[in-house]
Amino acid sequence: MQKVLVLDFGAQYSRLIARRVRECNVYSEIVPYSITAKELKSFKPTGLILSGGPASVYADSALKCDTEIFRLGIPVLGICYGMQLMALELGGEVAHNGISEYGKTELRSNGGMLFEGLNKHQQVWMSHKDSVQVAPKGFSPTAATKTSPVAAMEHLEKRLFAVQFHPEVVHTPDGKDMLKNFLYNACGCKTSWTFSSVIKDSVAMIKEKIGHGKAICALSGGVDSAVAALLVHEAIGDNLTCVFVDNGLLRKNEGQKVEETFAKHFKINLIHVKGQDRFVNMLKGITDPEKKRILIGNEFIKVFEEEALKKKDVDFLIQGTLYPDVIESGGTADSVVIKTHHNVGGLPEVMKLKLIEPLRLLFKDEVRSVGEELGLPEEIVWRHPFPGPGLAVRIIGEVTKERLDILREADAIVEEEIKNAALYRQIWQAFAILPDIKSVGVMGDERTYDYPIVVRAVTSEDAMTADWARLPHEVLEKISSRIINEVAHVNRVVYDISSKPPSTIEWE
Ligand code: XMP
Repeated sequence: MQKVLVLDFGAQYSRLIARRVRECNVYSEIVPYSITAKELKSFKPTGLILSGGPASVYADSALKCDTEIFRLGIPVLGICYGMQLMALELGGEVAHNGISEYGKTELRSNGGMLFEGLNKHQQVWMSHKDSVQVAPKGFSPTAATKTSPVAAMEHLEKRLFAVQFHPEVVHTPDGKDMLKNFLYNACGCKTSWTFSSVIKDSVAMIKEKIGHGKAICALSGGVDSAVAALLVHEAIGDNLTCVFVDNGLLRKNEGQKVEETFAKHFKINLIHVKGQDRFVNMLKGITDPEKKRILIGNEFIKVFEEEALKKKDVDFLIQGTLYPDVIESGGTADSVVIKTHHNVGGLPEVMKLKLIEPLRLLFKDEVRSVGEELGLPEEIVWRHPFPGPGLAVRIIGEVTKERLDILREADAIVEEEIKNAALYRQIWQAFAILPDIKSVGVMGDERTYDYPIVVRAVTSEDAMTADWARLPHEVLEKISSRIINEVAHVNRVVYDISSKPPSTIEWE
């Protein structure tokens, strides 16, 4: 398969570059900037992209690449820092004069392969201090801005291209077309990365690895484990067993939905462990959030292990590790070292199971698309993230069956009303929290002394930062009146208007 490698010089946008390339239906992977030309060749890349980076090319700590890569005959696109590095290493002049360009900038192109078919006047996104003043010998400047005389350049014969701006961000509206010009025209890439090809290749890879062996997979009800399980099921059918542990801390009807989808619809061997009492009893008297997390995590491993050990001839464990986890742990798609998934950590060692990670090449949104392609119901594909310890970390104080029932009902109303208002996909997470206090209310002629429910809805890209969602007042009103009317022991609803940081998304 053709692939374009992104050399990561520490830019916040490196992942975005890889994702954009994939959106152009060309497979892309991220590799460290320090990769040698020899190592690069072994990947047989069709093209290379040098990412941006936070440092100046003149800094002592500047990240430099093996300059041989410019002589491999592989087309290269330098972006921002990547352009400055290319210019400096190939004999151009890079100014370090303190003049910077930030934000939306007007650019004028005078031709060049990257701008083919595009308007000569472009809006682009800039974010740099140093800038190329004189292009290296043999290069032609192909665009300029008011402050950057060489805002883009190319050496057609050597297939070297560079842009000072960021074509990968949405604030460069024609950026994707520029990337397409690089991929299709400069590199000669074909559109070979599609979700049906991803599925076909993954299934073939899994078949080859597992052969006639048996595999086990923990289903959580979330999209990652669901897609991982479906891919493996496509490959090995009944030799896959899924284990779904209902720990009593799940959202309303979750167990039933998992059973209907996986056992009934997809006909996957499913062990549905009804562990509600076991988990709730274990949590008796526990109020410390971290203690709750540890107890729940360890108990989950115990239950999963018990079930896995009952199936004597299992050799493989399926995990839904995603590509960002692989990058974070410093691996590439071909390397083996990865972070162990926290939900089933330790398990492979105890049981000597071999790990299969069908999603390790995919970004989250790609997992969703693969899920859609595999016929996974929209409800699971687009499900909001849910913490492993479940409702236990949304109940402040002690977790009891009564308090779980209150929270679960209130949470279901929040979800339902957000969906009714067609806001579900725009919102990262929306849920209810049950605090450990009571307040006075009046219902009919009666004085009540009951729990409040906190409603939390946030927008976010990746859960690292988040902002409280500006829900329409009518939606909040509906949520509030329904919860108070329909959920016993709740007489007040409040809305959390804190962003992350300084708050977190969850309350515990
Ligand atoms: P916070 O509350 O730290 O949450 O802003 C960030 C994201 O992580 C989820 N979260 C967890 N997920 N186990 C998980 O699997 C946990 O213990 C846990 N705590 C928080 C949270 O829902 C949000 O998406």
